[in-house]
Amino acid sequence: MHTIPQLGFGLSLRNQHWNDVLTEQPKDVQWFEIISENFMHDHGYPREVLAKVRASYPVAMHGVSLSIGSSDPINKTYLKSLKALADWLQPAWISDHICWTGVNDINTHDLLPVPYTEDALTHMVSKVHQVQNYLGQRISLENPSNYLAFSENTMTEWDFIIQLLEQADCLLLLDINNIYVTCFNHKLNPQTYIDAIPAHRIGQVHLAGHEYHGTHTIDTHDRQVSQDVLALYAYTMRTKGQKNTMVEWDNNIPDLATLRAELDRVRQFNEESALVDFSGDHTQPNAANATPFDALMGQFQSCVLKNQEPGAWAHHREDFAANKQLNVY
Ligand SMILES: [Fe+2]
Repeated sequence: MHTIPQLGFGLSLRNQHWNDVLTEQPKDVQWFEIISENFMHDHGYPREVLAKVRASYPVAMHGVSLSIGSSDPINKTYLKSLKALADWLQPAWISDHICWTGVNDINTHDLLPVPYTEDALTHMVSKVHQVQNYLGQRISLENPSNYLAFSENTMTEWDFIIQLLEQADCLLLLDINNIYVTCFNHKLNPQTYIDAIPAHRIGQVHLAGHEYHGTHTIDTHDRQVSQDVLALYAYTMRTKGQKNTMVEWDNNIPDLATLRAELDRVRQFNEESALVDFSGDHTQPNAANATPFDALMGQFQSCVLKNQEPGAWAHHREDFAANKQLNVY
């Protein structure tokens, strides 16, 4: 099975920076990550640019439409396009998200949270096997930024992810900012989360900026990485070993020089920082659930599409009500 190379520090390849990347060929950026769906058409200028970038850099493919957590079957047309792009590009690795984008053939175009239950896990493991067999390589899946917990969750997010990684023999795209956001929103300890993840399963790290809203944080990708997230990143690198690291900045996108400076700030912080301790409550979910995961997804999607109040299936918090959690999606 394909293993992930150690490439160092990378950036997203955004069309705002195509010209600068091609003319400057910056040496401090060691690899680029693309959004797979933006290059699936096998013609035109985007493919020309990508061919030129690929001639000088390793490129990783990051998708947003696999919907691996959905109770729906894998979209075979999508998977075929993904494989065709991978066969052409020969990426360093292929990744997507631990999420679902819709059920019953609806695409909400959002990355929605999976119920952390045994039946959802079993279903996702079988879908990852199917995808990996088809692509002929391991995939990496990214931990989500999570705003809403299902009342019927029977395991923590990290326990779910560890089971997924082991049973499906896939890798984790560890988004440190997502861990920070999720733990802040659910009053969990990010250090406990990081400590639980097996180092050999981490293929890549994402870092990004988030927005603080008092009762919760939102993963906005529109600013510098926060000091707390940098500290958590440094802790992770010290306890898990150095991993391929990338800064995501997808909204209010600055020029390439600013992004390179941000990547350098991350690099410096990683080299110079000391270990930091984190505090926070650790809330364990229920021991057993009764509602099948596809029914939970159906209720979630229905509330999102019809703008309805969530029922008891959503975990309520005094200072961050369930309807406010749902409104983030
Ligand atoms: Fe990410």
